[in-house]
Amino acid sequence: MKKLDVAVVFGTRPEAVKMAPLVHALRASRTLRPVVVVTAQHREMLDQMLDIFGIVPDYDLNLMRPNQELSELTARLTLSLDDVLKEAKPSAVLVQGDTTSVLAASLVAFYHRIPVGHVEAGLRTGDMRNPFPEEMNRVLTARLTDWHFAPTQSAADNLLNEGVRPESVFLTGNTVIDALLDARTRPQAAPRAVAAGRRMVLVTTHRRENFGEPLARICLAVRELLDANPDLDVVFPVHPNPNVSAVVRAVLADHPRAALCEPLDYLSFISAMDASYFVMSDSGGVQEEAPALGKPVLVLREETERAEAISFGVAELVGTDTRRIVERAQTLLSSRDDYRRMATGASPFGDGHAAHRIVSILENALARGTVANEALLQAEA
Ligand code: UD1
Ligand code: UDP
Repeated sequence: MKKLDVAVVFGTRPEAVKMAPLVHALRASRTLRPVVVVTAQHREMLDQMLDIFGIVPDYDLNLMRPNQELSELTARLTLSLDDVLKEAKPSAVLVQGDTTSVLAASLVAFYHRIPVGHVEAGLRTGDMRNPFPEEMNRVLTARLTDWHFAPTQSAADNLLNEGVRPESVFLTGNTVIDALLDARTRPQAAPRAVAAGRRMVLVTTHRRENFGEPLARICLAVRELLDANPDLDVVFPVHPNPNVSAVVRAVLADHPRAALCEPLDYLSFISAMDASYFVMSDSGGVQEEAPALGKPVLVLREETERAEAISFGVAELVGTDTRRIVERAQTLLSSRDDYRRMATGASPFGDGHAAHRIVSILENALARGTVANEALLQAEA
């Protein structure tokens, strides 16, 4: 029997991590097969991930430009994806998360009447400016989606509250945990060495709403923490976006205990998380991975769409105010009880089987041949 093609479209580092388990699960399917389309919205950081996960794209649109802006990126994505979908004619398109690649791919699939599966559907802060432009991307993508693969119950509830048809919402867990558990079986993901008597804090930042002053305040907080704690080292893989790297380097490059480095490959990053005392980050994926590794996360944002980690007590929102970050981090460094309370190893985001659940749902739906275009149904209702 001829297998049906499922286009797996992604473009950035975190999408690659969360889509890799799906590519592998689709390869193992008896009825479906993956057609991997990378937009390369990210270039170097995407390639790092493709190598580690053993994925060779069927289509590589190579779209990244230095310091790209949202409108021009969206325009280039739309035109290039149109050509690919015309040629590949997949039976379904899978997208993941909330990047510009996700919105463009969902829209172009809709234009071609190809059903869309949205992985990690239903995350919301309720504030269109936070995170920017991701909250808008995921709200719009939900309108274009036929199968909503919600990672948690609260994500599923968000979709139902927005009037999405319950039959199209599936609680699957987050594929980030599938990827993490798989990576931890590899020897390269063993914790990196930290000298006896020293502690390491891992820091990452990249959010657009933190560009400028907020990012400078975060970096100043890191500097103050280093100065106040002689036993502390910071490892800071710097995102290559010039809006990020210029500020981080200006504030921290000359500090002898701030190790600024290029983005780490996924396995090295997991080793660094595992070796860290705690993590400070504005990343979405890191908020999910660090708790699963038993590491507290101080979230350098004003809002989060991952409230589960906050309610489990393994993550805390600390915003971007220098004083607030320093005070909270200092307590975590000084109080064993506070630290133990946060470092529980509780993971609210999944059990490592999300990709198989998603592929089973697709196998059944596509075998029945009864895919209703959710967006068209909503429009007709
Ligand atoms: C993008 C996503 C964001 C996601 C983040 C993950 C959008 C609007 N933003 O943000 O949702 O959380 O990726 O990291 O979709 N660059 C390189 N090499 C790379 C990657 C980026 O040089 O491998 C530089 C380029 O100058 C590029 C710039 O970073 O133009 C910005 O990349 P872009 O994808 O537009 O935004 P991110 O901030 O990375
Ligand atoms: N990551 C990585 N190397 C790094 C920093 C992050 O491999 O130097 C991984 C991390 O483990 C997670 C993902 O990148 O899986 C998160 O990506 P990012 O923070 O860029 O995006 P977000 O999750 O915020 O969309």
